[in-house]
Amino acid sequence: MLTPILFIAMAQGQNGRAATEADHALLLKTLNITSLRGGADGMNPNAPNAANTDESKANPYPNIPPLLTFANGKPVKSARDWSRRRAEIAELLDREIYGRTPKNLPKVEWTVESEADTTVGGFETKTKKLVGKVDNRGYPAIEVNIRMTLVTPRQAKKVPVIMEFGFSFPQRPGAPTPPVPEWQSMVIKEGWGFAILEPGSYQADNGGGLRAGIIGLVNKGEPRKPEDWGALKAWGWGASRALDYLERDPQTDAKRVVIEGLSRYGKAAAVTMAYEPRFAIGFIGSSGQGGVKIWRRNSGEQVENVASSGEYHWMAGNYVKYAGPLTPGDMPVDGHQLLAMSAPRPAFVGVGSPRVEGTWIDSRGTFIATQLASPVWELLGKKGLSATEMPPEGTPAQAGDLAFSQHTGGHTNGPNWANFIAFAKRYFDQRR
Ligand code: GCU
Repeated sequence: MLTPILFIAMAQGQNGRAATEADHALLLKTLNITSLRGGADGMNPNAPNAANTDESKANPYPNIPPLLTFANGKPVKSARDWSRRRAEIAELLDREIYGRTPKNLPKVEWTVESEADTTVGGFETKTKKLVGKVDNRGYPAIEVNIRMTLVTPRQAKKVPVIMEFGFSFPQRPGAPTPPVPEWQSMVIKEGWGFAILEPGSYQADNGGGLRAGIIGLVNKGEPRKPEDWGALKAWGWGASRALDYLERDPQTDAKRVVIEGLSRYGKAAAVTMAYEPRFAIGFIGSSGQGGVKIWRRNSGEQVENVASSGEYHWMAGNYVKYAGPLTPGDMPVDGHQLLAMSAPRPAFVGVGSPRVEGTWIDSRGTFIATQLASPVWELLGKKGLSATEMPPEGTPAQAGDLAFSQHTGGHTNGPNWANFIAFAKRYFDQRR
């Protein structure tokens, strides 16, 4: 399991850390907050603040905001009602959790930097390196380029694509290129393509980077305001721009594109699905706190962890209020409502085994959020989650249009790919 500390150490050096601490401190000052509560310790089970794994202590805030009730207390009874309720939820998510995506964002111009005949898992493929240059005439000091690699079967015409938020930590010089992981071959074997989007190319994964990237460009290098968007929303914006590119590439069918990610990028995949209706299917892996799980549960990672200087940049500035003076129980929304924003499109929620992945992700909280979101699929005439109890590991519940699958492995989507592909095929084959 990767801890926040490890990630920060990997993602940024000394200067970056100072810039992050300064930005976080400035945010607290803007919000008139003098101190935040500390998060849980996911590494040391003997620490006084060790992350909780005891289910009997997991629900200090049992009142989860209702999904199918309007803010005024009236019930949500129809698809038409849902579109209004959905707007209420979106407003709360924007204002309190993820921040508002600015209007009139600059245009992006895509170019194919290189194109090569390649092979993946023995299949003939074409690999395109793409760059989306963001128009920075509004503030030329900040340059932003969205980077993506698209791999399709060589002769592909209008094929489905799995778009992944890809981890891209700097490679040591001379380090051997890792072998192509299995899922890419599985996807190509289906005749589909895959695209690896590099989130860090257009928004850094740290608070010190908030005055650069697309967020900084729009703010002309100034710090964020508490309602401004965070990195998750910005990463989602980049995925939308990448989808614009796929709409124009004759090899890909932009109506059949999956957005997929793990962990922080699982959170990003959930947010992207919620806000970009053109994505056909979501594969949301081990998204944990701030993603698809019940945020107010005391199990694994806490709101306080995400509000800390190592992770707050994912969210709106306003989010940190819930780590002091407010509590997670004061949040007017929760993770089931985030997931429900994707309905009626198919969504596949994955986690690993607590024995292998660890308990930071809160697999039960992930299941509960999925289960609580399910009625929206039903309301919209789809099949919701096909399990009423949390299924045992290795037993995916994926007969409906909303799926939950806890695999037997660790912090990876790996063992879920075969399940996911079978799920996605049901939709993608229909359009052939
Ligand atoms: C940390 C962080 C999680 C995140 C994870 C990851 O563990 O606390 O919220 O999901 O990193 O991205 O791997």
